[in-house]
Amino acid sequence: MKRILILNGPNLNMLGTREPQIYGFDTLSDIMERTAARFAGRAAVEWSQSNHEGALIDAIQQAHAGGYDGIVLNAGAYTHTSLAIADAIASVHGITPVVEVHLSNTAAREEIRRRSLIAPVCIGSIAGFGADSYVLGVESLLMKNQR
Ligand code: DQA
Repeated sequence: MKRILILNGPNLNMLGTREPQIYGFDTLSDIMERTAARFAGRAAVEWSQSNHEGALIDAIQQAHAGGYDGIVLNAGAYTHTSLAIADAIASVHGITPVVEVHLSNTAAREEIRRRSLIAPVCIGSIAGFGADSYVLGVESLLMKNQR
């Protein structure tokens, strides 16, 4: 069974109360538990969250070293700013695929959110489907030839 890590970046621990008009009322653990349960028997889905750039890089490197089959990454605002996270993804590219996901449709938001530094090094990007963005992210990693 494939092992997938869902990795969440800054402020996603505040889901539920954070700008619910954009992100909804579900908490991160609600979303993560629902997503993992949905793939029960098909994939082993684990998840984590950090507000810290370096910790996210460590998590990418550890998932790679640990032989995970892929990472679904919501890098939060680091999506738009972090060359270091982009480099971490690039350094595992070809072995540990990373899918970029966002709850909101970042292409329809402020100018700065339309730019993703991580998109070019991810195998693909999914945005705008709320909690289902994570489901679609995991699903994409279970498809054939996503390595
Ligand atoms: C987000 C979009 C980012 O622009 C924002 O900084 C977030 C959440 C999303 O899931 O829609 O923290 O990644």
